[in-house]
Amino acid sequence: MKDTILLVGAGGQIGTVLTEALRKAFGSDHVVATDLRPLENQNGPTEILDALDGQALAALVKKYKVTQIYHLAAILSATGEKNPMWAWDINMRSLFNVLEVSREQQVAKVYYPSSIAVFGLEASPAMTPQYSVLIPGTVYGISKVAGENWANYYFKRYGLDVRSLRYPGIIGYESMPGGGTTDYAVDIYHYAVQNKPYECFLRADTPLPMLYMPDAIRATLELMEAPANQIMVRTSYNLAGMTFNPGEITASIQKEVPDFKVSYVPDFRQAIADSWPASIDDSAARRDWGWKPEYDLDAMTRDMLFHLRKQYGM
Ligand code: NAD
Ligand code: SER
Repeated sequence: MKDTILLVGAGGQIGTVLTEALRKAFGSDHVVATDLRPLENQNGPTEILDALDGQALAALVKKYKVTQIYHLAAILSATGEKNPMWAWDINMRSLFNVLEVSREQQVAKVYYPSSIAVFGLEASPAMTPQYSVLIPGTVYGISKVAGENWANYYFKRYGLDVRSLRYPGIIGYESMPGGGTTDYAVDIYHYAVQNKPYECFLRADTPLPMLYMPDAIRATLELMEAPANQIMVRTSYNLAGMTFNPGEITASIQKEVPDFKVSYVPDFRQAIADSWPASIDDSAARRDWGWKPEYDLDAMTRDMLFHLRKQYGM
């Protein structure tokens, strides 16, 4: 039987690109994109779905005979800090709905992204190990720590094949980020191609782990395609691509756009960034299912600028 995949929260930064990649891999008719808001430019089935509505989710899983769910809907770090209880409710209730429907209807595989936000000030900030102290400073991070543990629980208790990656900040040209602390690293490229000065909300010397979208999508597909007996981490895998700070991404862009100007005006997101690691040890992902990133900062910058110039008609 061919797999049928349902994405929850498909209209966001990652879902937009992941939907396309899954449609290429599995066939457009076999990938159902859902979101709270109507989805545009789709070449396969789409549905409006509030992930908090467990019955509606169950009906879609039944209707399309879904065999895999990618659960992307979440409130990210910066937006979550503005309304913590609301963020907790959405992040957890949507996950429980996905886990429960998957258990009840015997969905074969579930993908649940976690984040570097699971780490807090108590974790070692350089090459943060897979198994670290997890005391996050944001409600988003708390929800991801809880979510990873629920994923592990459903695997151990019910045999549900849930797989997860702790994404770093994801950077891509196809879609805009949705309220995270790493969003500056996408916004900055849009300002650069338009020859506008950029005001960065983090200090120039704030290093964070980041990953270019093509690597993030490939990591997700490779994890989900790996034989189940190779997935040794059932909470969530550390995943790394590159590390840079706002000063370094600015310098990388200035190699291509020499007049580009950036000023630094830190806001509440500085404290969030300061609580996250600078770099991540992803050796478990490399060992278990062969993870290897391809893009470094300068390669990403060249590719981002090339595609954004096309998008802006330059
Ligand atoms: P995003 O904010 O861009 O997109 C989230 C999508 O979920 C949006 O389209 C939104 O409309 C939808 N959504 C929100 N509430 C919903 C609900 N109740 N029902 C259905 N849909 C709902 O997020 P993203 O950047 O694409 O992130 C996807 C996942 O990856 C999230 O779980 C996020 O925590 C994780 N992640 C992202 C990054 C990153 O840098 N983008 C890093 C680490 C982890
Ligand atoms: N990019 C995400 C955020 O900043 C990390 O999970 O919230």
